[in-house]
Amino acid sequence: MVMIIAIDGPASVGKSTIAEKISDYYNSPYLNSGKLYRAIAFQIKIKNINLSNKQKILRCARAIKEIDLNSRELYSSEIDKIASKISAKKYLRNQLMKFQKEYPKKYAKGNKYAIIEGRDIGTEIFPGANYKFFLWADAMIRAKRRCDQILKKGGKVSLNYVYKEIVARDLRDLNRKTAPLKPAVNSVLLDTSYLDIEQVFNAINKIIKKR
Ligand code: DC
Repeated sequence: MVMIIAIDGPASVGKSTIAEKISDYYNSPYLNSGKLYRAIAFQIKIKNINLSNKQKILRCARAIKEIDLNSRELYSSEIDKIASKISAKKYLRNQLMKFQKEYPKKYAKGNKYAIIEGRDIGTEIFPGANYKFFLWADAMIRAKRRCDQILKKGGKVSLNYVYKEIVARDLRDLNRKTAPLKPAVNSVLLDTSYLDIEQVFNAINKIIKKR
């Protein structure tokens, strides 16, 4: 049976980079659950849907497909904000929970692991996950990492703006009533503030290999 590796943590902590590395190392599929919220935010943007229109938002969520998660349009400051706002909606989380729960059955047949990352994977989506990791890093350090990423791609960015956006998203993620960002009681906590990607990967992989 496929084993679930849950990786949770706040915005820009490096979850996707780590999840991707584990996915490559074990040749196992990986779901970035934030992309589900982003793909719906993108639909909301292009269809100009009001954020209080439950029926239309639900329709987008029911129609979501894996291929929609590959869109290049999912990463922008506007999508960040819409995704962060809609992720507090309980009806949307319930609908997207189905997609996430079905993911290993659909995409990890014959694989040893399925890696799922997000905010509530270890607490709500897969409370029985075989491995649970919760990554953390100081908000200013995360903002600097995010800026470096944008600069590397040739974009322009202000550290102060990115920092403020990260703090605002943290507040929404940590304080929402439904599935707030918090470590599962039985998760391994890793403060990555002073660790590089290789160190985080090695720490996680050591734990995976041990069992
Ligand atoms: O990880 P990310 O920044 O791409 O996530 C986009 C938004 O979706 C973010 O504001 C938090 C939200 N999210 C969530 O509430 N639950 C998840 N499992 C994943 C993401």
